[in-house]
Amino acid sequence: MCGIVGYTGEEEAAPILLHGLQKLEYRGYDSAGIAVRNNLDLPIIVKAEGKLKNLIDKTNDGKSIHSTSGIGHTRWATHGVPNELNAHPHASDDYNVIGVHNGIIENFIELKDKLIHKGYKIHSATDTEVIIKVVDYYYKKYKIGPIDAINRTMVRTRGSYALALMFKDYPNQVFFAKNGSPLIVAKGSDSSFLASDVPAILKFTNKVYYVSDLECGYIKGNEIRFFDLNGDDITETKKIETIDWKADSTDLGNYSYYMEKEIDEQPKALRNTINAYVDKDGTLKFPEMGITKEYLNSLEEIYIFACGSAYHAGVVAEYLIEDLANVNVRVELASEFKYRHYKMNPKSLAIVISQSGETKDTHEAMLKAKHNGIKTLAICNVKGSTITRDADFNLYTYAGPEIAVATTKAYSCQLVVLYLFALFLARTKYALERDRYYELINEVKELPAKVKEVIDNKAQVQKLSNRFTDKTNVFFIGRGIDYAVCMEGSLKLKEITYINSNAYAAGELKHGTISLIEPGVVTIAIATQPNLIEKTISNMVEVKARDGSVVALTGNDIDVSSSSKYQLYIPKVNPMFAASLAIIPLQQLAYYSSLNKGINPDKPRNLAKSVTVE
Ligand code: F6R
Repeated sequence: MCGIVGYTGEEEAAPILLHGLQKLEYRGYDSAGIAVRNNLDLPIIVKAEGKLKNLIDKTNDGKSIHSTSGIGHTRWATHGVPNELNAHPHASDDYNVIGVHNGIIENFIELKDKLIHKGYKIHSATDTEVIIKVVDYYYKKYKIGPIDAINRTMVRTRGSYALALMFKDYPNQVFFAKNGSPLIVAKGSDSSFLASDVPAILKFTNKVYYVSDLECGYIKGNEIRFFDLNGDDITETKKIETIDWKADSTDLGNYSYYMEKEIDEQPKALRNTINAYVDKDGTLKFPEMGITKEYLNSLEEIYIFACGSAYHAGVVAEYLIEDLANVNVRVELASEFKYRHYKMNPKSLAIVISQSGETKDTHEAMLKAKHNGIKTLAICNVKGSTITRDADFNLYTYAGPEIAVATTKAYSCQLVVLYLFALFLARTKYALERDRYYELINEVKELPAKVKEVIDNKAQVQKLSNRFTDKTNVFFIGRGIDYAVCMEGSLKLKEITYINSNAYAAGELKHGTISLIEPGVVTIAIATQPNLIEKTISNMVEVKARDGSVVALTGNDIDVSSSSKYQLYIPKVNPMFAASLAIIPLQQLAYYSSLNKGINPDKPRNLAKSVTVE
């Protein structure tokens, strides 16, 4: 999705804006632009299609344009093709208002028609140009200040937006407004920043305000003010948060790509996440987070809502919670659930899983649960994000900032939080003996070391990846938790290699899909669940009998040499937690196959890290 930055202070704005945009590149974009404006001069607007490097080159690293305030944007096209005309910033024709926008204005055609009727011309295909001209229209028509003009615009606008705007009469100020799209405001010692996400500002400050929906405000030097829709100053009510991510945590270090760095960071991320919740004596700290035993005891059912990989983590949890705690779980794609007329059990908890905490579908599914009177628990990697602010309970993952578009370490941390939650629930409901509980907690604590062991086996996976470069179709099969891992492994492969890959519950293969198996087609079979291994092996044999190439991923004590062509092994682990190990070679396989195909694994085409539109 788009990235927004803004700066006011005493330094040259352009290099700071470009730095921020570089840190937001992970969100996905296809063009970029910046604008600066000082005193009463006309603003300087520079845009470039394609990579941010084009904009950096065009502005000589930002050194060719001078001003101490400005705005910047990376655009991920929604309305109109990615070109310079559609790139942001956009401006009113007299440059009275210039601005950048993230989100989608749903009633932009209606607003555009009205503007044209009032004599405005619209040059680009974007909804952004329209909304900026609506602000300009109110500003001039009612001779009101920027905040009032922005508020009037918000009242007339449907859809999602984070906006950063500059007005001719307020040259050293950057105004902002938000509804539905992420926006933070950060305070430096003599400067302030706006950004879509924290990495953009971490080099300068770690003091951050999260802008709530239907709020607006401005930054001027290091002055920050917030206003509500009535135009009342609400700055005193806003809480400044301190971000505990280190500034260098978003640097590549010795790595060529974030994805490899993040795969390798998993042992540390898991250890940090486990340590946040497990006391030295093995008890879990969830009651301190408001999740009391009394409340959990009252639950009859659990819902899990999420999208993409986070949904796949939810599918693992579905098997685990049902198995361990004997509580029914319903895991739903958030984008589907929010439109369903499903009668929720009042004695239930809705768990929402999200790395970014900004995924619109997940947020809306969560709001639907709240609306039904159901308490919500967010498992999230970003403190202060929209989802965490609206959740009744929060369990954070301590993965640190995740930059590569394809998630790895955040997914792994989601799994361990879900394991711990399942164990806590199971113990609370007396579904798990005390000794067994401590045994399993110890096994969770051993996961970081085991994950490291699997990661260190990367050379073997890299070698295998050479066999994937020319493939156009790959199947993943598995049963139970292995099926959940298949979904995630398959998504990893398709999103960063563009190979068509599909995950099937192994038992489903012969109900149709087996017709696609022919010589050369690769099937990755995951078999880590002892009670299901024999059945999965039978399915592998069925594929082999049709001359398909089978890659078996299984425990190192299981012999699958006669039913598969290639083998990948994971160390001995409790089957309940096998997903944490089995996913590692699949992440690596996708990563190396992506490199083999000459694709940048960090920024796969068409994808965005944070999906804040439907
Ligand atoms: C895939 C991936 C996506 C996200 C999904 C949800 O590698 O990263 O499928 O898992 O877009 O995002 P979050 O977790 O931020 O809600």
